[in-house]
Amino acid sequence: MVILGIETSCDETAAAVVDADRRVRAEAVLSQQAEHRPYGGVVPEIAARSHLYHLDPLIRQVMAEAGLGFAHLAGVAATGGPGLIGGVMVGVMTAKAIAAVAGKPFLAVNHLEGHALTARLTHAIDFPYLLLLVSGGHCQLLLVRGVGQYRRLGTTIDDAAGEAFDKAAKLLGLGFPGGPALERAAAAGDPSRIALPRPLTGRPGADFSFSGLKTALRHRLAEAKDPPVADLAAAFQEAVIDCLADRTGHAIAMAREGARIGALVVAGGVAANRRLRRRLEEVAAEAGLPLVAPPAKYCTDNAAMIAWAGIERLRLGLVDGLDFAPRPRWPLDPSARPGARA
Ligand code: KG4
Ligand code: ZN
Repeated sequence: MVILGIETSCDETAAAVVDADRRVRAEAVLSQQAEHRPYGGVVPEIAARSHLYHLDPLIRQVMAEAGLGFAHLAGVAATGGPGLIGGVMVGVMTAKAIAAVAGKPFLAVNHLEGHALTARLTHAIDFPYLLLLVSGGHCQLLLVRGVGQYRRLGTTIDDAAGEAFDKAAKLLGLGFPGGPALERAAAAGDPSRIALPRPLTGRPGADFSFSGLKTALRHRLAEAKDPPVADLAAAFQEAVIDCLADRTGHAIAMAREGARIGALVVAGGVAANRRLRRRLEEVAAEAGLPLVAPPAKYCTDNAAMIAWAGIERLRLGLVDGLDFAPRPRWPLDPSARPGARA
């Protein structure tokens, strides 16, 4: 069973061909970072136009690399949301067109479900597990019970973790995208020289808050005559990681009230942060769980995760109609109260 996956929900145009034996037969990710850099953030209209321009040749490329025609596919999966709606429309319409012409099932994949199921593609782990999903647009702790079965244990009440990294990097003049730049700068700094708060840590529940931390950083920066950028970056990174570790510890306890989780899984772009990975290893070890962290290229946005989620859904007969409407918002756990950036 081979599936074509398409990802266009933010600033990566991506296509991949993946099979049910967990083999990625071909994949390509085209980053639009250079196009958005002059604006210091992702511009939705530029993103949509760029997806439109690049997606068809990218699909042709991965199909050729896999040595397959559309007739060989078992289905076509595309991110159906949540995300920037113009980009999601490009991916969904393209997938529907291929599915209609080739007479194959179309699968609209929730982008968050793509991130949530990646660990089953890379590590073949079983349900249930606890997922820390940390990206530029999302910051959630989810109990993953099965395909389509999610319980949100915590979410951010303001900024996502990646968004916090990006804003802090902008404040410190480190450029865009901020996460990797801030991690590089932090490597040369001492996190203990500058005091920053740890919002919500020690409090019940597993929610996050990062906007106060960003404000505190702005104050520290304004106070300093000759701002020690490396120390500020290190202190900020440490504070975010402390918050993520504390909240994840709480979520493990919450998840265990109703499920026998077998692993702590981390996904999303921020999961590429090496210091965070080391810290989460400690949190997992303390709880007697393995930490499962997919390789960085499958933590950031990619199409292999969309194709894989498509395979998981197709195996259960969860196909979508060609009347599926792209969804700018699409919570994984509809029973959870809406978060600011759920
Ligand atoms: O999952 P992703 O590629 O796209 C979204 O769905 O948002 O995540 C991108 C986010 C950005 O905010 C970026 O700054 C952050 O992940 N990020 C990092 C690192 N690499 C990427 N944050 C901290 N440390 C990193 N090494
Ligand atoms: Zn993502």
